[in-house]
Amino acid sequence: MPAASTPSLLDLHHPDWTRDPYPLYHRMRQHAPVLWDELMRSWIVLGHQEIARLSKDERLSGARIRDFHAQLPPAARGDLEPLARALSDMMLFNEPPRHTRLRRLIRPGLTPRFIREMRPLIESTVDSLLSGVADRGEMDVIRDFSEPLSRDVIARLAGVPDHAAGLLENWQGLLHEFFSQSSAQVPRVNALRAAFDEVAEQRERGQAEDVFSRIIAEQLAAEEFTEDEVFANFLLLIDAGQATTTHLIGNAVLALLRNPDQLALLREAPELTRDATHELMRYDSSVQFTSRVALADLEIAGQHIRQGQTVILVLGAGNRDPRRYPDPDRLDVRRKATDHLSFGHGIHYCLGASLALAEIEIAVRELLRRTEDLHLAEPEPSWMDSINFRFAKALPVRFRPA
Ligand code: HEM
Repeated sequence: MPAASTPSLLDLHHPDWTRDPYPLYHRMRQHAPVLWDELMRSWIVLGHQEIARLSKDERLSGARIRDFHAQLPPAARGDLEPLARALSDMMLFNEPPRHTRLRRLIRPGLTPRFIREMRPLIESTVDSLLSGVADRGEMDVIRDFSEPLSRDVIARLAGVPDHAAGLLENWQGLLHEFFSQSSAQVPRVNALRAAFDEVAEQRERGQAEDVFSRIIAEQLAAEEFTEDEVFANFLLLIDAGQATTTHLIGNAVLALLRNPDQLALLREAPELTRDATHELMRYDSSVQFTSRVALADLEIAGQHIRQGQTVILVLGAGNRDPRRYPDPDRLDVRRKATDHLSFGHGIHYCLGASLALAEIEIAVRELLRRTEDLHLAEPEPSWMDSINFRFAKALPVRFRPA
């Protein structure tokens, strides 16, 4: 096992690496594509090929909530019980056969065909947000644009009633909260549950208005799901779909502003934006890693992973693996990067991928079309202190309306 002096993923808490984690990933990958992190007490996987392989390995499991919860001190355990219950019912933290069943519940509402039908909603939301800031000539991309966009889309998708939409504001992620043993969001989750129960009642009476409710009603009629399971997976949509998309759009705008030649290419040929979306996802994802627990001993890249050990798949590092992408630190909007790892890989592949791609594409294309001389108002955004998520707290820009 390598000595403890090997760089650790925890070094990402240092402001230099929070600003730009990629050189640290390269350094770690130079030690080995799979290495033991003594401080994290976990295996760290940094190679594209190794992440892709392990994501499909049935000996690794995503069902990690109950174990984590059981290890907490009794006081924290009680406070976090409602969160632990909801998280344990989410497909993301289950494996087949339960995972397959829970995924079937939500999937009909997120097919590419259904998402195509949502494009007009995304376009009109983008249009009204950009119209709202046009005369000001400045905005915070996060606060004024990407956050209200992804919030509105998720609220409409999940059928959150208008009077409860405020509950989605400043949503930073339940998972982050749970793993940092904070229960601050529990009242908000309980309030959402009350709003959800209202919609569920309407759904049972066949009166729910939102498209998604109507689609999942068929699924509910075809198979048995408990109300807890349905609620947990609605909560997952909100949790997995909101801040991730908000900050992916922020990171994409930042990447383009720092690479003016690539930004100019997209301005000249907006039809490139759809393919560019994959490259922007590869280049700087809002989600940097996911983790698994080994159900059995296994070997990869010459390393022996033991049953019970935690394995961290650093998607953001796989996305910059030079063995997979030539000149990986260069943003190249013409690169065909459809095999990036930012949506995960294998059975847990992001169910909202088509929706997220549509939001990013429309947001970037329209932002460039409706502005001229778009530039950063501050050289460096301030980043949330997280080794898992790359969330800029604010991204102020200036522009002239086009
Ligand atoms: C799963 C990233 C947007 C819903 C995942 C996973 C990743 C991811 C990495 C796999 C996690 C794992 O394997 O442990 C992202 C990113 C997004 C995004 C970077 C934005 C750019 C969305 C949206 C939705 C969504 C908009 C919903 C509307 C889900 C769900 C899963 C998931 C339900 C769990 C799938 C399963 O366990 O089978 N996402 N996501 N995501 N995502 Fe996304």
